[in-house]
Amino acid sequence: MKKAYNRRVFLKDSSKAALAAGIGISMIPSVVAAAAGNEFEQQPLPYAYNSLEPYIDAMTMEIHYSKHAATYAKNLAEACVAEKVSPQTMSLENLMRNISKYSAKMRNNGGGHFNHEFFWKCMKPGSANQPSGKLLTSINQSFGSYEAFKTAFADAGKNRFGSGWAWLIQTSEGNLKIGSTPNQDNPLMDISELKGTPLLGLDVWEHAYYLKYQNKRPDYINNWFNIVNWDFVASQLK
Ligand SMILES: [Fe+2]
Repeated sequence: MKKAYNRRVFLKDSSKAALAAGIGISMIPSVVAAAAGNEFEQQPLPYAYNSLEPYIDAMTMEIHYSKHAATYAKNLAEACVAEKVSPQTMSLENLMRNISKYSAKMRNNGGGHFNHEFFWKCMKPGSANQPSGKLLTSINQSFGSYEAFKTAFADAGKNRFGSGWAWLIQTSEGNLKIGSTPNQDNPLMDISELKGTPLLGLDVWEHAYYLKYQNKRPDYINNWFNIVNWDFVASQLK
């Protein structure tokens, strides 16, 4: 079983990247962020790369986490240095809520980092269960049934043209809503048409599924419901 990507490996990889770029170790923003232990850094994956099989294969998870998501965190740290955003005085959520005041690099990588950290938590090995309690009641009230919710959520992912995310959110009025965002935008961002508190997020970028599913995004989405961590989703409900 492969070990989850951890901070030691992350620091080692960051160091390699810095050396390749000719940057001194003390100047690497991502390392500084990691040392500070803040939410702007990439957190350890809460399960092994191969633990979501057969629905998501180990190689996809490894590349997704250690390459794609790690790069968002690294680039976010660089943008924070350039635009004087300090993790000590700014929360990641607040940065999202004020993202229109920052650069495209901050928007793309800040969103990319937030979204992926959220995405890992939305999944759990062997949790082929369904929502229950207050969450199930809210889903039934908003969409009619769990099956109707699944269909609408899957459609949001299938119909997102190009790269982006499907979301279940809670609006400021307390209602549940399904939608999608392009690229690495998310419903917390002030520039997003879909606005609310994310409860569940699904990455529909090709890098999330192409090795196993190729062009069959609908198959990836349908299988993904087998590994949704409904306990985490319920914990985000207000
Ligand atoms: Fe991704």
